[in-house]
Amino acid sequence: MIQVFATPDALADAVARHIVASAAEAISSAGRFTVALSGGSTPRAAYSRLAYGDLSHQLDWQRTHVLWGDERCVPPDDPRSNYRTAKEALLDRVPIPANQIHRIRGEDDPQKAAGEYERELRALLVCESRSSSLDLVLLGLGEDGHTASLFPGQPAARETTRWVAAVSPGGSRSPLTAHRSPDVWRVTLTPAALDLAKNVTFVVSGAGKAHTVQQVLEGPFAPDLLPAQAIHPAEGRLTWMVDQAAAGQLRASRAST
Ligand code: 6PG
Repeated sequence: MIQVFATPDALADAVARHIVASAAEAISSAGRFTVALSGGSTPRAAYSRLAYGDLSHQLDWQRTHVLWGDERCVPPDDPRSNYRTAKEALLDRVPIPANQIHRIRGEDDPQKAAGEYERELRALLVCESRSSSLDLVLLGLGEDGHTASLFPGQPAARETTRWVAAVSPGGSRSPLTAHRSPDVWRVTLTPAALDLAKNVTFVVSGAGKAHTVQQVLEGPFAPDLLPAQAIHPAEGRLTWMVDQAAAGQLRASRAST
């Protein structure tokens, strides 16, 4: 499903309300809500909306677990840290128990951090006969078609067994994909984990992403070139929430919301 919003503000508001609605559904059916936040700058406005105003009281933070779809391998107080972005915009302002914030330890060796995060994720999801899936995963989209830290030509983008992988900055690039690799080591959820989620929502804003959005949604299936195309929740819902600028090159007319 593709939802188009007139402006970045309308998109941010809708994403925040989507998170609140997803939480209410999960807590009502299973007594808790697990959400993997996206990195990057796009979702920051939505995170802030969850921390202020009427929405801040509509999410039961005592029953919420926050994780990340990926992290840069930098210290948690580094400006590049996805954890720091969410901490500043949201987590420092809501009453979520500290042990329900499951950050990826970017300050550790990438392979070690990936292994620890996978163990923590499996322990959280596959226990007490609970279903092994995240309730909501938010994903961004890079202009090169990457999502989370699944970059074109990188092995992690084709991982179907491990739930978490470390991605090197100089990772293997096939001749087909002279795309950028990450600037630092990353740790990322893989398609194997993302496809287990009950609800995967891409959040994309800005005209700079319009060509990539059109290629991912309407172009030929080429997940090695466009890793965002590799994300297909097995039983979950896949939603795109984009602003009008990012939807600008979509051929099919989409109702603006
Ligand atoms: C990251 C993200 C990455 C991001 C996209 C879009 O750690 O950078 O996980 O996948 O979502 O690159 O980033 P922007 O929202 O900043 O455009």
